[in-house]
Amino acid sequence: MSPPPISVSSTPISIERVTESRLPQVDLANVAFGRVYSDHMLSARCCDGVWEDPRIVPFGDLALHPATAVLHYAQAIFEGMKAHLTDDGVPVLFRPEENWRRMNRSARRMVMAEIPEEIFLGGIRELVRLDRDWIPPNRFGSLYIRPFLFAADPYIGVSPSREYRFHIMTAPVGAYYEGSVSLYVTRKWIRAAEGGIGEAKAAGNYSASYYGMKEAREHGCDNVLWLDSKQHRFIEECGTMNMMFVIGDRVVTPPLGGTILPGVTRDSAIRLLRDQMGTGVDERPVSIEEVAEASADGSLRECFGVGTAAVVTPVARLTGGGVEVRLPEDTPVQDELRERLTSIRLGRSPDPYGWVDRLL
Ligand code: COI
Repeated sequence: MSPPPISVSSTPISIERVTESRLPQVDLANVAFGRVYSDHMLSARCCDGVWEDPRIVPFGDLALHPATAVLHYAQAIFEGMKAHLTDDGVPVLFRPEENWRRMNRSARRMVMAEIPEEIFLGGIRELVRLDRDWIPPNRFGSLYIRPFLFAADPYIGVSPSREYRFHIMTAPVGAYYEGSVSLYVTRKWIRAAEGGIGEAKAAGNYSASYYGMKEAREHGCDNVLWLDSKQHRFIEECGTMNMMFVIGDRVVTPPLGGTILPGVTRDSAIRLLRDQMGTGVDERPVSIEEVAEASADGSLRECFGVGTAAVVTPVARLTGGGVEVRLPEDTPVQDELRERLTSIRLGRSPDPYGWVDRLL
């Protein structure tokens, strides 16, 4: 079934401001990821393919009928983005159009309504301007932006909804991972299979990973290094990050083949490695055995994850599935990559790709 074409009623985004901000109760220098939300959120709905009533309102609970389709069949997708403050105090977004495009690719895959640019990007820009005082100073973190779309029909027949609700909320956040992470290799559980929804940013991909994550934690690890669904050998991603390995003088990263998330940070990292750091990047299948062998012969120099929340996160250890790999502590490639990414994003170095969206 193909979703109806996008159409928007002519209503512009209306704004209802809070009467009193909650910001004075928040310590922006100490916010855990995903626990605190800013004053406003965006709400819009789409009925039978027509978008209506986009509004920014005070942050608050959603009232849902118990039969709301998403609660039963998980027809839900989301995005993750960040706003930062430049050194001269201007709020900036990083490649927001890429998130809008990916959100609509996810919507198509999940047979959901696509979101018009003026609601997705227009809504984010309005919200970030309105809650700009919630953006933590750079040394403490950023304002995480979470757009999400869900099936809202009060109907438990198994079928795509006619009504969708779209919201954007924002949250001041510190680091997602504090320092380096250990990843658990499982040959038993999988995150996604060919022909499935692995490349969509669908809510179900995340809950599907919880069982493996539980095992990972029981083995003292932070998360799972997912392998392919057929041979249980080829590295996919980590659920919160795409993966990169420095083997010899090249960076190797799994290709986008439909089962892993096409990360905006992954794409940005590949471009910076190639164009600015002169580092060859191979997007090719990489097996866990190859990584273990490279570790044994000394050619595995680094392993790191890249993602919006995680930025560039070092991996200290891979364990499980018959593999035990300790990564070197010296990490020059990822350190330089993180520094370059951060400087472009904060307007400290030139932005040759036009990635930064300044919200003046
Ligand atoms: C992100 O990096 O924004 C993600 O969506 C990963 C995770 C926080 C779910």
